[in-house]
Formats: sequence, structure tokens, C-alpha cells
Amino acid sequence: MILHYVCNIVRFKKWKILMLIGVCALVSRVNVILQSLYPSITQLTELPKCPACYGVSACHDIHKIDLIWDDINAIISHLFGVKNVFFGTYNQTKVVLKKLAHSSELEAFDITLCDILHLGYPCSVFIPLDRYTAQFYDLIRKAITSDFSKDDTSRLRLCPTLSHLDDLFYNVHLNNKHINPTQYLINLWTLVSINPEPLILQILPAENGWPVPKYYGACGRIIVEEYVGLPLADYYDKSWIQRIKIASSLLNAAYMFTFKDKNFGFYLTDVSADNIAVDNENVAKFIDLENIIIVDKNVSQEDEPKGWQKIHKNTMHFDFPNLNCFSYSAEDICNHYLSDHNYYAICQKIKIHFLGNFFTIYLLILNSSIQIFNIYYDNVLFLILRILEYFLGSSSRYC
Ligand SMILES: Nc1ncnc2c1ncn2[C@@H]1O[C@H](COP(=O)(O)OP(=O)(O)O)[C@@H](O)[C@H]1O
Ligand SMILES: [Mg+2]
Repeated sequence: MILHYVCNIVRFKKWKILMLIGVCALVSRVNVILQSLYPSITQLTELPKCPACYGVSACHDIHKIDLIWDDINAIISHLFGVKNVFFGTYNQTKVVLKKLAHSSELEAFDITLCDILHLGYPCSVFIPLDRYTAQFYDLIRKAITSDFSKDDTSRLRLCPTLSHLDDLFYNVHLNNKHINPTQYLINLWTLVSINPEPLILQILPAENGWPVPKYYGACGRIIVEEYVGLPLADYYDKSWIQRIKIASSLLNAAYMFTFKDKNFGFYLTDVSADNIAVDNENVAKFIDLENIIIVDKNVSQEDEPKGWQKIHKNTMHFDFPNLNCFSYSAEDICNHYLSDHNYYAICQKIKIHFLGNFFTIYLLILNSSIQIFNIYYDNVLFLILRILEYFLGSSSRYC
């Protein structure tokens, strides 16, 4: 009798019952759905992946960061793993959290790691790591050496030789001196393979005046850095005086990356308006340091490439006039102790969107004359040459 009654309900209210079951299932999964829409900091860090991660220096405080989810773009980009950049607040200060790669790139890295350890994917790295120390040291050197004969996709290159690698990483070594050496090596290898930005932020600390965000540390597969401000593109229609200040800070950045360090020249190879942000004092800072060529200025005489002493000038614009985009030759930059690459790349941005030829030339002269008193003879010559070229009109490729 009861069974007959139940059968009747099911027969006549089939759709309603199905809907009820559906709603119940949805409610029971709501937690899972919310978690994938709004992941917690713990989920983002992926700590179990360590030591194949970026470090643990920020782990003790990372839970004090409140993620900001007020922007639909943030949710969409998280869902599709496109940007993997998150914004949050820490002690009422805005900070940026970066996973440093797209989800697919991180997965590709994990597959490579398992392969190196001769394990099937997905593999756990909780194995006696000490026996891999030498191997990871070699892998780091391999990842940052340029091999121009292959299609090299290195994100960080140190060239023309690696002989001063430890000098370059001095600050990084110092910040990590308390960490187990093998874990540290694996952290380093993970960063040079995925994205060296945290290394550059430590090599060129904002605290010493470098035009980059402050680095607050790493926790697993996430890093925390200072929120600088809005992207450069948001300033294209601001007042002329504001744009002059920003343009001047950009030229100053070109000067610093090229000349400030007497041992290394830093050449940014992904200069775009998206990768520059402007702080509240109208100073432009470089916020995406994934791709960089570092030239060792003190190579021994026997390691000097041919033409090393000559200043490199980017002539790609003349060689490929139909290429509207910005292009460069990594090999050429690496084979000269000094390159005009940063000026070329940064001035292109200023010219197109910021000032037009006349004001940029004026600015460059002003900027250079201030700097001329601070730098060596060679570099003075370099800047004077640049200025003469503008006057003679042979270098409209710059500004
Ligand atoms: N430190 C920062 N301060 C302000 N905005 C930032 C900062 N870092 C990243 N952003 C914003 O996030 C965007 C993506 O970050 P970026 O590091 O360039 O990632 P991607 O490698 O995916 O391009 C930037 O274009 C910028 O708008
Ligand atoms: Mg970017």
C-alpha cells in the first residue's frame, strides 16, 4: 500500500523530485564550489609541493593577509588560471600575491620534476633529497646559461659566463642562510625554472632605491610583494606635468638597470605598459621581472666575446622595419659589456603613449645631464652619443 503510494508520487511528480535531488546535491557541494571560486590562502600556497616551491620565509604571517575578491576579473582569472595574481591587505597595506605562472605552466614544471627524480607523475618530493644536491646545482646553472644555438626559453640569463653567479645571488644567499642547503637549492631551481622575479626583487631591493616593488617573502607556491599602484596605461590621459614626472622616472630606471651596479647590467626583455605600475609619487616601477638578461661586466679577458668593448646598439628596428613590435637580440646584448637596450625599450613606451618626440628629447637631455656627473667616462660618452643622435635625427627609434 505504502509502496504503491510512493510509486504514484514518483510517477506524477518525477520532475519535481529530480529537481529536489539536484538542489540537495548542489547545496552539499556548495562548499567545494565556493572553495574553487574563492580559494583560501592555504589552498593557494600548495605547501605540500615544497621544497619544489619558492620558499617559506613569509609562511608565519601569510594567514594575516585578507584576499580581496571584489573584482570579477580576479575570480575569472583565477578560475582559468590565466594571471594567477591576487590582491590582498596586510595590516591595512595593499599587497600582491603571485603564483608566478599559469596553472598549466606549473603542471608542466611538476611533470619535469617527477621526470628528473625518475618518478611517475604526480610524485611526492618527500624523498631523501640530499642525494640530489649536485644534480640541482647543475640544473640551476643549466637553466640560466644561454645557449644561443637552441631556441632558448630561459627566463633569467646570466652571460657571457656564469663565473660570478654566486656574486649575483649574494643577497639571495644571505636571506636564506638558515635554510637547509638542499631545500634552498631546490627552491632556487624552482624559481629559475618557473619565474625568477623573487630572485631579482632580492638582488635589486626596492629598499636600496631600485625601481621595483618591495619583496615580502614566499610561502610555498606563492610570493608576496608590495602593491605599487595602477598600471602605466591608466596615466596616458593624465596631466602633462604628471606624465613628465613618470617619463623622467622611467628614464631614470633605464639608467639604473644599465649603469647603477658596477658588476652587472640588467636588461629587461618584457617591457610593456602592463608590466609597469606607477606609485602615488608618480614614480614608475617594474612589476613583472620574469624575463631578464643579466650581463656580467667583469668577465676575464679570455672569456670576452668578440666586440665586447663596443657599446651594443639595438638595430633590429632598422633590420626589420616592418616589425612594429619591440624586438631585440639576446645574443647581441650578451656579447657586449654595455647595451642601449633598456633605453630603447623604455623610450619606445614613452614616445608612443606619453610625450611625443619633442618633450622626450628635452627630458632625455635633462635627465642625462643630471646623471652625467655621477657616472664614468665611458658611460658619459654613451649618453652624449645618444643625445647627438637625437639631434642629428638618426635615432628616431629611441624617443
Ligand atoms: N606589485 C604590483 N603592484 C601593482 N600591480 C601589480 C603588481 N604586480 C602585478 N600587478 C598587476 O597584475 C598584473 C599581472 O601581473 P604580472 O606580474 O605582470 O603577471 P603576468 O606574468 O601574468 O603578466 C599586472 O599587469 C598589474 O596590473
Ligand atoms: Mg605581466
